[in-house]
Amino acid sequence: MHISALFVLSGLAIGAFASQDVICRGLNAQDNGCIRYTRGFDVTGVVTEVDLTFPQVRDECDCIRECLNRPGTCANYVWKFSTPAAVQSGHRTCTLYSNFNLPSQVVLEFDLNSTNNMNIQILAPENNPQMGALVPQAFQDINLNTTADPDAVSGPVWVLANGQVQC
Ligand SMILES: *[C@@H]1O[C@H](CO)[C@@H](O)[C@H](O)[C@H]1NC(C)=O
Ligand SMILES: *[C@@H]1O[C@H](CO)[C@@H](O)[C@H](O)[C@H]1NC(C)=O
Repeated sequence: MHISALFVLSGLAIGAFASQDVICRGLNAQDNGCIRYTRGFDVTGVVTEVDLTFPQVRDECDCIRECLNRPGTCANYVWKFSTPAAVQSGHRTCTLYSNFNLPSQVVLEFDLNSTNNMNIQILAPENNPQMGALVPQAFQDINLNTTADPDAVSGPVWVLANGQVQC
């Protein structure tokens, strides 16, 4: 009885905690790449916006590398079609942030006048206050609201106190 229950539990555990494929092998991070990301959705939240485009950034791995290159300011990246112009060009964009999407019942307003701020860059005024929301989907049609984009990628980059990086 105990043993079979244990088997059932461990079977569930394997399903629940199955790790993701490593993407971008060779990146200078634990796991020799990234295992924490979502496809088709954008988990980022805007505080320190850095916009990068083709040809500086050609794929999701270039995008994550640009985040790794900025360990003091980048904690989240998103590789997606961010504008109709990007859809027309056929090239997804790379945007780097220090914040993540807030859950739907949280709203945060940044005091942009505070002299305590460092590196705050909110390029679009409508991003302050930052409204919580369900994690937005990424799209690839010209209006960016109809055809899902399963090749969009977003995720965290965590620089740990021991110097290692997880993504
Ligand atoms: C920030 O400063 C601007 C310009 O001085 C002012 O118009 C605005 O009201 C200030 N905002 C806050 C929240 O204090
Ligand atoms: C998508 O955006 C276009 C242009 O703003 C609008 O006409 C259309 O109704 C939207 N479609 C959906 C499914 O929201």
